[in-house]
Amino acid sequence: MTLENLKKNLNNCTKCDLFRTRNNIVFSDGSRNAKIMLIGEAPGADEDKIGIPFVGRAGKLLNEFLVQAGLNRKEHLYIANTVKCRPPENRKPLPAEKIACAGNLKAQIDIVKPKVIVLCGTTAMESFIKEKKLTITKARGRVFEYENGIKLVPIFHPSYLLRQHSTEPNSPRELMLKDLKMIKKMAQL
Ligand code: URA
Repeated sequence: MTLENLKKNLNNCTKCDLFRTRNNIVFSDGSRNAKIMLIGEAPGADEDKIGIPFVGRAGKLLNEFLVQAGLNRKEHLYIANTVKCRPPENRKPLPAEKIACAGNLKAQIDIVKPKVIVLCGTTAMESFIKEKKLTITKARGRVFEYENGIKLVPIFHPSYLLRQHSTEPNSPRELMLKDLKMIKKMAQL
């Protein structure tokens, strides 16, 4: 299976009800050779319109953090979401939708073979880390194991940071930058 085939097959995907309301499949952005794979929650309205993840307000803020951390979105990252189609009214994806799309995400990971998977926000974190009572505030910046030596690192979702403006020490924005710098080092970039 190649990324091209996977993406092409998804155009006809009806495995969950999100196909009824989607305009575009939002498959990925960035480089297939990236050492860092960033996984978000689900496409929003802007992403659904264009077919590229993280292009709306949250995506623009994410880009600013990546630049500040010295990471190049197109070169150093492969970006995807837990589900490839937009949930209506920007609700969180339902468990059945995440299950229906999990094989696509797993295939992306298996093909890209990143060193580090960055779990952006609670939804992505919960798809990979099954610890009970784990919150993103407790988990962010911690390193978890995936498989084949691949590391998992949860970080705050940029949508949350849109509402948090402080850059004081230990503020969510300051921690986000710290986490991204650590992730860059882990990927030996
Ligand atoms: N939020 C996400 O989690 N993913 C996107 O692609 C856009 C916004």
